[in-house]
Amino acid sequence: MKNKTLNFSLGKYELVETDDGSQTLLSTYFDENCHSTAGAWEETEYNYFYGCKLDEKLKTQNQLTVFETGFGIGAGLYVIIDKLGQTDFDGSLKFISCEMDEKLTLWALRESDLAKKYLTDASIGKEEYSGITVITCQIRNIKAYVIIGDIRETFNKVIPSIIDSNKIDAIFQDAFSPRKNPTLWTKEWFRNLRSYSNDKCVMSTYSSSIAIRKAMIAAGFFLINRKGFGNKRTCTQAITRSQLKDDDLHDQLSRSKTPALSDENYKVVLKFD
Ligand SMILES: C[S@@+](CC[C@H](N)C(=O)[O-])C[C@H]1O[C@@H](n2cnc3c(N)ncnc32)[C@H](O)[C@@H]1O
Repeated sequence: MKNKTLNFSLGKYELVETDDGSQTLLSTYFDENCHSTAGAWEETEYNYFYGCKLDEKLKTQNQLTVFETGFGIGAGLYVIIDKLGQTDFDGSLKFISCEMDEKLTLWALRESDLAKKYLTDASIGKEEYSGITVITCQIRNIKAYVIIGDIRETFNKVIPSIIDSNKIDAIFQDAFSPRKNPTLWTKEWFRNLRSYSNDKCVMSTYSSSIAIRKAMIAAGFFLINRKGFGNKRTCTQAITRSQLKDDDLHDQLSRSKTPALSDENYKVVLKFD
């Protein structure tokens, strides 16, 4: 059966069924799927909800701020809504994400199957911070903000107005692959993230590339090796506390000659319609 095609601001996307029965999108602009075909939903639970230890944080904190690199179909937000619904968490959670494609964001929050399942009683709005559009969504004790545009240009202009003194507790680092989406994997990008992270923050990602891990270390994170999702051997957790780091991994990385990804080497111009 042919996959359904959708048209948004960055061009065509195809809805692709994954092995756990959930859907992902193939972006023709980036020429990549938003998730592993082994299971979009399960991958998001594993890599981000559990990868960032949100299950533990929900038990000990009553205010949480999560940042996500790349909103896509919104699976990160929907997994949080689903999991929170199964706990007695009665605090508040801020979910801040970013997306170059505004039409994709509106579809993901209003028309997708996940929106119909999880957001029937949500209020969707549009706010502006320093002239930048932010799509918002309030659902019970969760407020989501999706910053529209290239996050490398908008991050420092918008984040200080949204974030509170608690700073970021968890980062879902879920850009497309470094080859397709290089500006969101450099040490300069990770420095931005580190500067707004608190001392208990956990960043989690599917990637285990040496150049990316070195970029995270150069930005001030400490790393832990984690088993990857599906048939991926390893993935990465990056933390802001040095005491818990994986010393062997840090030793191995310091011996490797591969340089950290940097804007200098990987700067690309992202084109909009
Ligand atoms: C792998 S997908 C994210 C999947 C998403 N986390 C989910 O669970 O559905 C990456 C997303 O990042 C967006 N993106 C890529 N580069 C960006 C940039 N520079 N600024 C903002 N969004 C970007 C893409 O349009 C794409 O939707």
